[in-house]
Amino acid sequence: MSSLRVVGALLVLFVCLINSTAMGFDTEVGNGNASSVQCKERERQALLTLKQGLTDNCGLLTSWGSTGENHEDCCKWEGVHCSHKTGHVIMLDLRGRPDYASYCLEGTINSSLIELHYLSYLDFSSNLIYGDVPKFIGSLTLLKYLNLSHSFHGKNGIPFELGNLLHLQYLDLRANYLGGEFPTHILNLSRLLHLNLAENELTGEIPDIFANISSLVYLDLNWNFFTGTIPHSLGNLLQLNYLDLSYSSSTSNLDWLSDLTSMKTLKLAYVNLGTVINWQQKLTNLSHLQELDLSGCNLVSSKSPLLFNHSANLAILQLSGNHLTGSIPKSWLDICSLSVLDLSSNNMSGRFDDFVSTSTNCANKSLQHLLLGENQMIGSVPDLSQFSFLQELDLQGNNLSGPIPKSLLNICSLRELSLSSNILSGRLDDFISTTPGCAKKSLQHLSLIGNQITGSVPHLSQFSSLTYFDLANNRLNGSLAFQHMSACESSTPRPLF
Ligand SMILES: *[C@@H]1O[C@H](CO)[C@@H](O)[C@H](O)[C@H]1NC(C)=O
Ligand SMILES: *[C@@H]1O[C@H](CO)[C@@H](O)[C@H](O)[C@H]1NC(C)=O
Ligand SMILES: *[C@@H]1O[C@H](CO)[C@@H](O)[C@H](O)[C@H]1NC(C)=O
Ligand SMILES: *[C@@H]1O[C@H](CO)[C@@H](O)[C@H](O)[C@H]1NC(C)=O
Ligand SMILES: *[C@@H]1O[C@H](CO)[C@@H](O)[C@H](O)[C@H]1NC(C)=O
Ligand SMILES: *[C@@H]1O[C@H](CO)[C@@H](O)[C@H](O)[C@H]1NC(C)=O
Ligand SMILES: *[C@@H]1O[C@H](CO)[C@@H](O)[C@H](O)[C@H]1NC(C)=O
Ligand SMILES: *[C@@H]1O[C@H](CO)[C@@H](O)[C@H](O)[C@H]1NC(C)=O
Ligand SMILES: *[C@@H]1O[C@H](CO)[C@@H](O)[C@H](O)[C@H]1NC(C)=O
Ligand SMILES: *[C@@H]1O[C@H](CO)[C@@H](O)[C@H](O)[C@H]1NC(C)=O
Ligand SMILES: *[C@@H]1O[C@H](CO)[C@@H](O)[C@H](O)[C@H]1NC(C)=O
Repeated sequence: MSSLRVVGALLVLFVCLINSTAMGFDTEVGNGNASSVQCKERERQALLTLKQGLTDNCGLLTSWGSTGENHEDCCKWEGVHCSHKTGHVIMLDLRGRPDYASYCLEGTINSSLIELHYLSYLDFSSNLIYGDVPKFIGSLTLLKYLNLSHSFHGKNGIPFELGNLLHLQYLDLRANYLGGEFPTHILNLSRLLHLNLAENELTGEIPDIFANISSLVYLDLNWNFFTGTIPHSLGNLLQLNYLDLSYSSSTSNLDWLSDLTSMKTLKLAYVNLGTVINWQQKLTNLSHLQELDLSGCNLVSSKSPLLFNHSANLAILQLSGNHLTGSIPKSWLDICSLSVLDLSSNNMSGRFDDFVSTSTNCANKSLQHLLLGENQMIGSVPDLSQFSFLQELDLQGNNLSGPIPKSLLNICSLRELSLSSNILSGRLDDFISTTPGCAKKSLQHLSLIGNQITGSVPHLSQFSSLTYFDLANNRLNGSLAFQHMSACESSTPRPLF
């Protein structure tokens, strides 16, 4: 779970931040000039009608009014941008605040919107708009950017009329409960760069007609109810650098991947690749890969060792929940950019101390999350203090033996340490000695359940950030009771014996 959270956080880094400059609107857009440009009365009325249909919970539309300093010039209203040259409204940015406790705007989008004939940018995302995605948006034929993500409960799907928006470059309809089949009409939009239909309820097969939007750079279809196989025409999208088809309950071979050499983020989690014996070979051409998520894909190991060191940029490698066997190639720690390595819940074997032992592992400066829980690894937990940026170390559910090295507590960034369900031994009071260790300030989660650790439980008050601590099923004696765990008291620690 923690790994999912981590990846969620990292995802944010990949979200393409689009601002008006990047979109090429900068030459035209302005907040107007009271003395030279005034908004068109017709468009002003349209905006006022639009406002009437919306409850404004966070003051987004306060400046929109028939009274007040700028009541005449709608080009000065918040979220409204007009062309310097013509005074027409060309951008409407009414994005709600995803962090706001309730929705900013709530209600309906009045069809008066279509009076804004020159609109090229429309963002209504992160609000609560009733009903389906309105068909009349298809009349705003100059739109280049349309973001309606996270704002509808559009059971009736994606209106056919959106296929008229021939200038569209960005279409974001994520998280709107959209039902129905894949909107093939959208694949006619030949200028599309960015298409996000993720987290909806689309059904049927993903159609094999991706040849015509060859400019597509970003495609996210994850979390829908698609069936069938991944279409091979995706292989025509040579510009693609972000592709997420996770949780789309499809099966696939990976022949279509070979030419997609621009790919930086590839996520196929829970797509069944059980029959794709050559899956590694199919990835070798993707030399710009930064993030690869093949979790839960039924992957099996091929005879050749797992090799990902071809990509100098790889930062996130997620292969958890597969059927991979053998030892983890040491060469993976030669990837100087590697930040997340998740091989949890496979059948990896070999010695953990061998895997991390090499003195030339360049990943010692980049690795933040090392997740190898629920495998068959043996050996000991060696000194890992060379991995000085490690935040999370999960080795639970292996066959690791020997004592836990004190030096783990010298990794100043360490927040989560899980060594449960191994056969680790040694005295707990040796590990958590009274000697200083900067991880005593950073560690939040420490789980040592189900080992053969002996000794007594020392004072934990030195662990100033600890919120979860579990020692059940060891061979400890002594008592944890009545210790001063001031930092933990407020956050319900769970000390178990
Ligand atoms: C507004 O218009 C006036 C007169 O045309 C001009 O002097 C001024 O620079 C303009 N201001 C802006 C911000 O464009
Ligand atoms: C749009 O606003 C007009 C005028 O307030 C109203 O009569 C009409 O019902 C509204 N339409 C929608 C779809 O909200
Ligand atoms: C759409 O808006 C959401 C926030 O509401 C943002 O996270 C997302 O990146 C936007 N999509 C595009 C394509 O800009
Ligand atoms: C795509 O566009 C072509 C012509 O531009 C049109 O004939 C065809 O019906 C469109 N297809 C869809 C699915 O909208
Ligand atoms: C793709 O483009 C061709 C030629 O422009 C057109 O005939 C065809 O209908 C398009 N296919 C789809 C699925 O829109
Ligand atoms: C990698 O790309 C080259 C050149 O496009 C191609 O010949 C080769 O078959 C590709 N490799 C794989 C494994 O698909
Ligand atoms: C990848 O690792 C293998 C095995 O360790 C090694 O033979 C190969 O030279 C490495 N390739 C690169 C590009 O580092
Ligand atoms: C690991 O291997 C064992 C024995 O071969 C097998 O029973 C088990 O299902 C495998 N686990 C995974 C996650 O593949
Ligand atoms: C990390 O690995 C490099 C070799 O890539 C090595 O020179 C360096 O000493 C290592 N850092 C630590 C702290 O061990
Ligand atoms: C792990 O340890 C258990 C019990 O100590 C043992 O039965 C099992 O064979 C070990 N597995 C491996 C892969 O060493
Ligand atoms: C804990 O065990 C050690 C050695 O087994 C013993 O010397 C010590 O008295 C025990 N302490 C308690 C509180 O039982």
